[in-house]
Amino acid sequence: MLDDVFNSFFKIEPMLSEVVQKALNDQINMEFRSSYSYLAMSSFCAIHNFPGCASWLQIQSEEENDHAMRLRAFLLDRNCPLVLQPIEAPSAKYTTIPEVFAAALQSEIAVSQSIDNLYELAHKEKAFAALVELQWFISEQVEEEKTVRDIAAKFEMLKDDPSGLIDLDGDLGARSAEEAAAN
Ligand SMILES: [Fe+2]
Ligand SMILES: [Fe+2]
Repeated sequence: MLDDVFNSFFKIEPMLSEVVQKALNDQINMEFRSSYSYLAMSSFCAIHNFPGCASWLQIQSEEENDHAMRLRAFLLDRNCPLVLQPIEAPSAKYTTIPEVFAAALQSEIAVSQSIDNLYELAHKEKAFAALVELQWFISEQVEEEKTVRDIAAKFEMLKDDPSGLIDLDGDLGARSAEEAAAN
């Protein structure tokens, strides 16, 4: 009798279908990959003397890590195991700062597509709690795509204008100071 109580209490019943669990774990991997990628971009900017860009991209890298952790928390709340996968090294080789932001935009577009696919799957699987969780990510992607698209467009407009580039780098560097003040 006590054994039954013990077993039922500790029995872990995943509350998401296997296919949704797998897709969420894959998304976690994509968020970590995105974090790695922003870290690589930040480092490229740092050694090319764009400290503002480097700082902006480092904060972005930390945000992607937060996204992975947010999905992890959701999986665990639903009694589902976290299945960590190897994180692919960023492959992109940049030669200019505008290239970095163009690549960041492509990466955000790919993440948005992946989140949309995940949402569609959760809908098909009637994973309603996952739908609610994923709505946050859909809004976040709209925001991130817009922000990165704006920055990429500014770099495109400036081309090689040195004083414009210095100003833009300074504007991007202000992000860390603003966010530190807000927290
Ligand atoms: Fe993300
Ligand atoms: Fe992102």
